[in-house]
Amino acid sequence: MNITKAIFKCSSERISQVPKDALRDVAFIGRSNVGKSSLINMLTRHGGLAKVSATPGKTRLINHFRINDSWYLVDLPGYGYARTSKQLRGSFAKIITDYIFKCEKLHFLFVLVDIRLEPQKIDLEFINLLGEHGVPFGIIFTKADKLSAAQRKHAIARYEQTLLEQWEELPPRFISSSEKQMGREEILDFIEKCLKAEPSDTE
Ligand code: GTP
Ligand code: MG
Repeated sequence: MNITKAIFKCSSERISQVPKDALRDVAFIGRSNVGKSSLINMLTRHGGLAKVSATPGKTRLINHFRINDSWYLVDLPGYGYARTSKQLRGSFAKIITDYIFKCEKLHFLFVLVDIRLEPQKIDLEFINLLGEHGVPFGIIFTKADKLSAAQRKHAIARYEQTLLEQWEELPPRFISSSEKQMGREEILDFIEKCLKAEPSDTE
């Protein structure tokens, strides 16, 4: 897919505020600082579209970016920031759970995980929650430039093994680096196919 137009549409603090049109959402979520905003800027090739910050917890709102006037790329707030030490199951911020479980616009969700870290409890909890609710999702391993090719392979195999303890099938998986523009084609092609799979005129 070629992104010819990427426009910031709106920031919502509640799902009642998300755009009411028929365009579908492809959203990005993950722990604070995992690189969501950087990835969105890399995918759209718009350096300043989503705010990148060295301070975790920067994105607290649901940000909609209209792409090619045909779908929305959505930057969701990071989880696991304020309450990391006592993060309990089911305690993801309401804005996040409302959006992913109730918002009909959501078509596909990418869960971002830092490729350098061993599988994190909070990510696995979140992924299991998606499974329980039947939310279609894929995993993007971020910051791949920080590891060698061999280390990447090892990290992903470790992650897959962990997922297979809970899941019979693995979700779609992608490796990315916003620094090195890695994974862009694969992710955009996947989104294109995903949006084609279920035309909005059937909704
Ligand atoms: P919040 O909105 O705070 O939840 O963070 P975020 O997930 O949007 O992360 P953001 O894109 O703001 O990036 C966090 C930090 O990681 C920044 O310092 C980025 O420069 C850095 N970063 C993001 N992606 C990459 C990457 O692919 N490679 C490297 N080396 N650094 C990255
Ligand atoms: Mg962000």
